[in-house]
Amino acid sequence: MKKRDTFSTKIGIIAASAGSAIGLGNIWKFPYMAGINGGSAFIFIYIIAIVLMGYPLIYTEFAMGRRAKSNAVDTFGIIGGRKIWNFAGFLAVLTVFLIATFYMMITGWVIYYFYNSLTGQLYNIAQGADSITYYKDIFAHLSTSFALPLIFSIIGIYITALINSMGIKEGIEKYSKIMMPLLVVIFIVLIGYSMTLPGFNDSMAFLFKPNFSSISPAVIIGAIGQAFFSLSLGMGALITYGSYISKTENIRTIAWQVTVADTIIALFSGLLIFPAVFTYDLAPSAGPSLIFISLPQVFLKMPGGRLFSTLFFLLVIVAAITSLVSILEIIITYVIEKTKWSRKFSTWAVVFAVTVGGAINIAGEGPWSYLQLAGRSIFGWLDYLTNNITIPLVAVLTAILSGWVWGIASLNEELEVGGTPSTSSDRYFNLLLKWVIPPVIIILMIALLLGIQA
Ligand code: PHE
Repeated sequence: MKKRDTFSTKIGIIAASAGSAIGLGNIWKFPYMAGINGGSAFIFIYIIAIVLMGYPLIYTEFAMGRRAKSNAVDTFGIIGGRKIWNFAGFLAVLTVFLIATFYMMITGWVIYYFYNSLTGQLYNIAQGADSITYYKDIFAHLSTSFALPLIFSIIGIYITALINSMGIKEGIEKYSKIMMPLLVVIFIVLIGYSMTLPGFNDSMAFLFKPNFSSISPAVIIGAIGQAFFSLSLGMGALITYGSYISKTENIRTIAWQVTVADTIIALFSGLLIFPAVFTYDLAPSAGPSLIFISLPQVFLKMPGGRLFSTLFFLLVIVAAITSLVSILEIIITYVIEKTKWSRKFSTWAVVFAVTVGGAINIAGEGPWSYLQLAGRSIFGWLDYLTNNITIPLVAVLTAILSGWVWGIASLNEELEVGGTPSTSSDRYFNLLLKWVIPPVIIILMIALLLGIQA
């Protein structure tokens, strides 16, 4: 058998893993989820979920992947010692496939906005016209068309697939090492500007001033699901990347760094977007269209807005592509190992399948928008079901598998390879896998299904 590819440097692993974690989840989804769910209450739970559930699950997924050295589906069976566990891995890969289909659509929207900022078309508004209507129309035109968003999302997935087709070291690692520093630089420039806006203080209050009135089981599970989505957990991403990590690396350290980087970018994305929203008196609860309808109005009004707009959408593209690379890689690794097709062929086969799914999502927003169930479109359902049900479920299964079946002792053994002997705080985090993550998530999911309100 051909030797399995591996990441060659520590910085490469961190860039690729942080690249996977930092994505649309941070810049597009986190601010609007916080906006819809009452700001600080949501963020409070989000942070608790990151520390007490996210961090231990990150190192667990890495450790499982590195031990099994296999695709995400088979890893579950190998670690669990029984093939039946493969169903959990299968659920993870299915989840990520569904996510890929709408992730591709949103990435396409972002590329369209980037392109139109660059050409100035986005800011070509008639004197005296109402900017709210103008941007609503632009977004409606884009999202309800079919060919237009499809073309832009194909551009996005095509660029991504070129990276995947070059492999782990020569593709993913190499390009993550270029794209992530670029992302950080653009981010710092934009944040610096945002801090000078008058709405900055209101945003700080909205995002961080404690207010627990809006906490309910739905908000809690939404925040936990969002934390996992953002950290790329429960979808086989870190298992897959873990399978390409060498035995000389310290997994716990990498896990910490990824957790911190992802959380900083999510929180600061809130601080990047809300000051503008508050400064110009827009609604923080605009939902998924926050960055597409609210933000351009802000850019329109502010000095140098077109430049900032172009930079902003470039930032989102870079973040989205490094995540989409990992999303595709989960499926590609699985396909390569199951079919023995070449990496190139597997990549394009996966891209084809995802594109078909993407086209269905795109149609669901446009020509097929009559296909709604309980007010949600196809994309709305996929987003809701993956965020609130399948991702938390895979996370619970991962915690049960590692904590109870594989066992904390075996997990620790893998973590100490390339790392240091575990300390008492390390042991404390391991206990969370056994005693906290499964019961808490299961109770919340039952509450959600029964429709219990706080
Ligand atoms: N974590 C990514 C984000 O925040 C999304 C993602 C989902 C990445 C699934 C990998 C796997 O946008």
